[in-house]
Amino acid sequence: MCGIVGAVAQRDIAAILLEGLRRLEYRGYDSAGLAMVDQDGRLQRLRRVGKVKALAEAAEHHQLSGGTGIAHTRWATHGEPTEDNAHPHVSDHIVVVHNGVIENHEPLREQLREHGYAFVSETDTEVIAHLVHWEQRQQGGTLVGVMQRVVSALRGAYGMVIMDSLDPSALVAARSGSPLVIGRGVGENFLGSDQLALLPVTRLFMFLEEGDIAEITRHTVRVWEKAGKIVERPEIESRVKYDIDDKEPYRHYMQKEIFQQPQAIKNTLEGRLNHGEVTLAELGEAETLLRQIQHVQIIACGTSYHSAMVSRYWFEALAGVTCDVEIASEFRYRKSAAHPNTLLITLSQSGETADTLAVLRLTKTLVYLGSLVVCNVVDSSLVRESDMAIMTKAGTEIGVASTKTFTTQLTVLLMLVVRIGRLRAHAMAMDKQIEANIVYALQALPSRIEQVLSLNKPIESLAESFLDKHHALFLGRGDLYPIAMEGALKLKEISYIHAEAYAAGELKHGPLALIDPDMPVIVIAPNNKLLDKLKSNIEEVRARGGQLYVFAEQGTNFIESKNMKIIHLPHVEQIVAPIFYAVPMQLLAYHIALIKGADIDQPRNLAKSVTVE
Ligand code: AGP
Ligand code: GLU
Repeated sequence: MCGIVGAVAQRDIAAILLEGLRRLEYRGYDSAGLAMVDQDGRLQRLRRVGKVKALAEAAEHHQLSGGTGIAHTRWATHGEPTEDNAHPHVSDHIVVVHNGVIENHEPLREQLREHGYAFVSETDTEVIAHLVHWEQRQQGGTLVGVMQRVVSALRGAYGMVIMDSLDPSALVAARSGSPLVIGRGVGENFLGSDQLALLPVTRLFMFLEEGDIAEITRHTVRVWEKAGKIVERPEIESRVKYDIDDKEPYRHYMQKEIFQQPQAIKNTLEGRLNHGEVTLAELGEAETLLRQIQHVQIIACGTSYHSAMVSRYWFEALAGVTCDVEIASEFRYRKSAAHPNTLLITLSQSGETADTLAVLRLTKTLVYLGSLVVCNVVDSSLVRESDMAIMTKAGTEIGVASTKTFTTQLTVLLMLVVRIGRLRAHAMAMDKQIEANIVYALQALPSRIEQVLSLNKPIESLAESFLDKHHALFLGRGDLYPIAMEGALKLKEISYIHAEAYAAGELKHGPLALIDPDMPVIVIAPNNKLLDKLKSNIEEVRARGGQLYVFAEQGTNFIESKNMKIIHLPHVEQIVAPIFYAVPMQLLAYHIALIKGADIDQPRNLAKSVTVE
């Protein structure tokens, strides 16, 4: 969500903080700020509403300098994105940046008011600044000692860094619920909410664990675990590649990422398909465990939830394993009963989604066979905390709307289903020929997607008809129903048009009442065994004057008419159809958002990595 960068160095760190923020900007971006202590011990703070660029320009103008500082890009939870609400927040000489939510900020605010503190922002974060100040004034001690007392009064989630401008030799960080890493340098040390921010200055990292408090100085790094004992956290050399290049020649990262999908899928398949068989080497010995699976429980949010839904069709049809799929924010707060021998699978492109992570942690106490994550970010929290991880190889995704991470997630899931199907007890195991057919379909997939991408122009020409629309319906059946949901989500996210998806057979149970000439209805129509059923559903819409846009596979024989536009799609192997049809849905949403002039890569109110509940 928001981004945090901090540094204690001999050199001037303004450029390091700003570059760090720029790299984290895609995660949250309504305002940004930084605070530094200059050579004369003066605290300088600068905050701007909007993008990091505005802050960088202001920093250049004010010629900020100093060796110790903290910086933040905000994704507002409490209080509008204004300069007053932007971080860092200060209480006299105490300076704070915070990612997360302090749930008990109201009673704390009341207490602090009684102690004489005045609040200048509407944020929950400002209470932390005053609380640290108050605790230091009352009982004194080191900043780490003060923080140990302060965190015991906080409820909620935080990754935060505190600077005391009276002693700029150190920064203190605390983590509970929101990620923080320490970057080790030579004669300088850093803090960040993500390795990406610090890669220009170091490749050596230490991950803070839940409840940790850390202090960094130029030459030392010390970590205290929750109970107050000093601990050693392992130092790792980063495997993260900074592969974010220019979006040229595309207009947006999302567009570029849509067009990168054939290559992203190739990368994800590489080394995993051999002689008609799927090999998932990273599972190693854990494959023995997978033989015992009787049930799969998948947990995810948003787009990742949609790939979970598709994979449910695959798990049950191909591997003969029952499968439940649930949104993380629901699952985590209900009492659930686990089937025997259940594998818990979490799906997340970022590996940091707070709700999904919370489920993983909760289920550690339940009787699951093990946990497996499908993720796009190496060393992310979900990867580190799961028993098994299979990586998608999409490369960094910058656009807030997931595209290539979705199709590569599905690619991995299909391979996993095959592997589990093959591992099952002999009599129930997936047929070798079925495996070979799926391998063939996966190998052909990148070129099939190239063919869809060549339909960019015809899809673009549809966008105009959506310009004055406020609502849209997406229809699909079977394993294409979740793709209709994903199409609706893409449209909502980036064009702000209200969109809903229905399993086409469900229309007559209510949503048909919505159909009128003002309601565009987008239909996913592969040439499969449900085609005749789907055609009847389409007729129900046509009879009521609905405007149809049918994405039809060759051989489906739809005839274009005034109320029915056909987008002709090439043939695709049925098993990979959900991955294939996701692409025209992405292109449609992209072109509609473009024509509406929306901020496609950073849509309003959203963030790339949702590290708060
Ligand atoms: C996707 O377009 C969305 N931005 C969002 O729904 C996202 O899929 C969701 O927040 C889950 O993220 P994750 O895959 O990183 O866990
Ligand atoms: N809750 C804090 C705020 O609204 C922090 C939000 C964030 O993570 O950026 O300011």
